[in-house]
Amino acid sequence: MNSLLFLFLSFFFLHSSLANFDFYMLSHTWPPSFCLKKNCKGRLLGKFTIHGLWPQNNSSPQPAGCTSNYTFKAEDLPAKLKTDWPAIIGDDTDLWKYEWNEHGTCSMLTPNEYFKHSLALYGKPGKNIKDILAKAKIKAGEELVKRTDIEAAIKNHIKKEPQIVCDPTKEYLLEIRICYDKSDNYKDCASYTTSCNEEVRYPYRIKL
Ligand SMILES: *[C@@H]1O[C@H](CO)[C@@H](O)[C@H](O)[C@H]1NC(C)=O
Ligand SMILES: *[C@@H]1O[C@H](CO)[C@@H](O)[C@H](O)[C@H]1NC(C)=O
Repeated sequence: MNSLLFLFLSFFFLHSSLANFDFYMLSHTWPPSFCLKKNCKGRLLGKFTIHGLWPQNNSSPQPAGCTSNYTFKAEDLPAKLKTDWPAIIGDDTDLWKYEWNEHGTCSMLTPNEYFKHSLALYGKPGKNIKDILAKAKIKAGEELVKRTDIEAAIKNHIKKEPQIVCDPTKEYLLEIRICYDKSDNYKDCASYTTSCNEEVRYPYRIKL
């Protein structure tokens, strides 16, 4: 009986210590929209790049700035971050350090594991978000695009609901967020109020 109780308690505490968040959200940024009002000269990338991997809860408050046993060291991070998770504007290491402090610390992973996991989830759809949209005939350019068409293109590919996020004017497609359970399966992102108009711009490049 005592050993059973012990087993039960260790199971319970092991799990509760791991359950500090409910799911992951990976945010993919569209650099031309990000750069609308910023000087991104030289860093414009023709693909969606990682903004961050965020441990999320089903309800607020969201985990942020957690205490971690691990120290961020830029030299321990995977080299692929440079191409898949660039700072678009500013210093790459500053962005990675910020995202680690704000979100990575809540993942219970080491920095190396957290960034590797981010890269793995970024690659999971098998194509860049841009190519998933292109398959549904949605191409960056001058035309207005229906927000629901963007949602449908992603949903058709991953079979779950993404989040579509726009810039503060609600006019420009800024981010597409995809959610994962803790076993890396796609899941619907928690319900939210979209920050986009019914029709949005998906610019090919910015006017400098
Ligand atoms: C998030 O949810 C987990 C349980 O799933 C809980 O342990 C944790 O405290 C929550 N975080 C915040 C910031 O409320
Ligand atoms: C941090 O380390 C302590 C001592 O080894 C351990 O008890 C605790 O569970 C660790 N916390 C995290 C978040 O890994």
